[in-house]
Amino acid sequence: MSLSRESIKVFAPASCANVSCGFDILGFALEAPGDEIILYKSNNPGVKIREITGDHGKLPYDERLNTASVAISSLLVKLNLNYGVEIIIHKRMPLYSGLGSSAASSVAAVYALNLLFNLGLNKHELIQYAMNGEFMASKAMHADNVAPSMLGGFTLIRSYSPLEIVQVPSPSNLYYTIIHPDLEISTRVARKILRNQVELTDMITQTANIAGLITGLCTNNYQLIGRSLNDVVIEPTRKLLIPKFDEIKLAALNAGSLGFGISGSGPSLFTLNANQDIATKVGQDMQKVLKKYNLKNQIYTGMVNTTGAKIIG
Ligand code: HSE
Repeated sequence: MSLSRESIKVFAPASCANVSCGFDILGFALEAPGDEIILYKSNNPGVKIREITGDHGKLPYDERLNTASVAISSLLVKLNLNYGVEIIIHKRMPLYSGLGSSAASSVAAVYALNLLFNLGLNKHELIQYAMNGEFMASKAMHADNVAPSMLGGFTLIRSYSPLEIVQVPSPSNLYYTIIHPDLEISTRVARKILRNQVELTDMITQTANIAGLITGLCTNNYQLIGRSLNDVVIEPTRKLLIPKFDEIKLAALNAGSLGFGISGSGPSLFTLNANQDIATKVGQDMQKVLKKYNLKNQIYTGMVNTTGAKIIG
């Protein structure tokens, strides 16, 4: 990247966190939707948000409260840099949807800053600064959206302290179908309602499933992936926030999906599928359920995004 560049435009994808049994430790990146950020060099030190589109006026222009500017500021402070930048955020995905919207903005922001000023950090090193933006949104230091959005593919947070992110191989033709019921759930609220204690029997089931899921992803074992997409800890509580959850789940599994779960903190619901035709059918059948109840929704279908954040201009 040339030092003389005055602006840069980047894309960071939406992501599906938790993947059923991997609460706060597993996620994967989507092909689309995602956020675009244009970052401009400015003569005035600090971060200014010039424009936000696609958010229906919901995101703050206050640089201390916006995930993108908070992430950038944390990186500037850490590196003791007196640079000035202005940001345009094109929010191309729904907010409070369980698709990692705040993570996508945070990731795009620090990824762009690093390239615009030739800071020389790699994607792994940038993740901790994107997490600072994510913290502003959810008040929790989780990386299961920012890591896949930055790196692409499936990512496992093996440790938070120190931060250790492992990229998990996955079958090349794994298709997701995600249904987003048209309602908003704040991650902060969806975390507050969770139980603080886990039964030992549930711990055994959950750890067996996450081990099974990782093994299935690494060995292209679709049936093992499917059997392991099971969450006995978080889903029983959070599904109460999502209308017609059980009926949508049944429709997805009957349509041939490998497995089904809540995407992040919801309300989006994800499925993984062995091919595109099944992914399409699963989407149609899940939509039929919501149509019966006149519940608006969006469907996203695609292959797991293995690129993560990228320059687009
Ligand atoms: N692991 C986080 C949660 C992801 O479920 O609260 C939020 O998108």
